[in-house]
Amino acid sequence: MMEPTVELRNVSKTFYGDGKIVKVLDGLSFQVNKGEFVTIIGPSGSGKSTLFNLIVGLLEPDAGQICIDGEICRIRAGRVGYMPQRDLLLPWRSVLDNVIIPLQLRGVSRSQARSSAYEMLPLFGLEDFAEAYPSALSGGMRQRAALLRTILTDRQILLLDEPFGALDALTRRELQDWLLNLWNQFGQTVIFITHDVEEALYLGDRVLVLSSRPGKIIKSLDVALPRPRRQGMIAQSQFGQQVAELLEALGVDV
Ligand SMILES: Nc1ncnc2c1ncn2[C@@H]1O[C@H](COP(=O)(O)OP(=O)(O)OP(=O)(O)O)[C@@H](O)[C@H]1O
Ligand SMILES: [Mg+2]
Repeated sequence: MMEPTVELRNVSKTFYGDGKIVKVLDGLSFQVNKGEFVTIIGPSGSGKSTLFNLIVGLLEPDAGQICIDGEICRIRAGRVGYMPQRDLLLPWRSVLDNVIIPLQLRGVSRSQARSSAYEMLPLFGLEDFAEAYPSALSGGMRQRAALLRTILTDRQILLLDEPFGALDALTRRELQDWLLNLWNQFGQTVIFITHDVEEALYLGDRVLVLSSRPGKIIKSLDVALPRPRRQGMIAQSQFGQQVAELLEALGVDV
């Protein structure tokens, strides 16, 4: 029996401001099971980041319920790890001092936080950059540092909002494989937003497609690829068929 760890029931959200009313989500429902890797795609402005802000508790829904680990959860702050869409490293802190922020927020001393985070750096390919400042890192390294910071929040549920969106295609593929490896080791539940249909399929157990605003789930696709994933799989016909299926759901002529 699958165990839902994040569940949204009929969630709606409208923004009011500047004389404008923007209905972003309308009766959105879905659930994500424990240990599952779910990817979400949808048009720009369809409410994907809003959805994450609701799950983490930065926003409240106008209607509907958000459940975490089986209970209706009104106070959600601190329950999930969150990497926002434009996650910034603090330019005045070194890599190591950036990634320890969640530990320091939990009251761990700087020296203890630094030594436990230091052990994680090799896994993130950052062992030679502990004392480097963000300006001296490549885009891929910055994203890995931001991911390490998210993972050090030590939560079983991770929400990642387009973490590889700004990267070149090759670096992106490398980081996809690296993330899957990491997920394999740690086994968290991951919800991952992307604009890239191929990325959504390559990473996910399941892909949710959000409609244009007001956003609703218009498709849930079980990914037909076995694990471990290999980049060569994107050349398989089954992969191509599922890409076409997702593009069609997004309203692209195929
Ligand atoms: N705090 C806010 N106040 C008012 N409007 C908002 C607020 N946050 C988001 N919006 C509006 O809600 C809509 C959805 O925004 P959101 O950032 O969730 O979209 P998205 O699907 O993440 O887009 P993208 O793919 O471009 O990141 C947009 O029209 C946006 O302008
Ligand atoms: Mg967004």
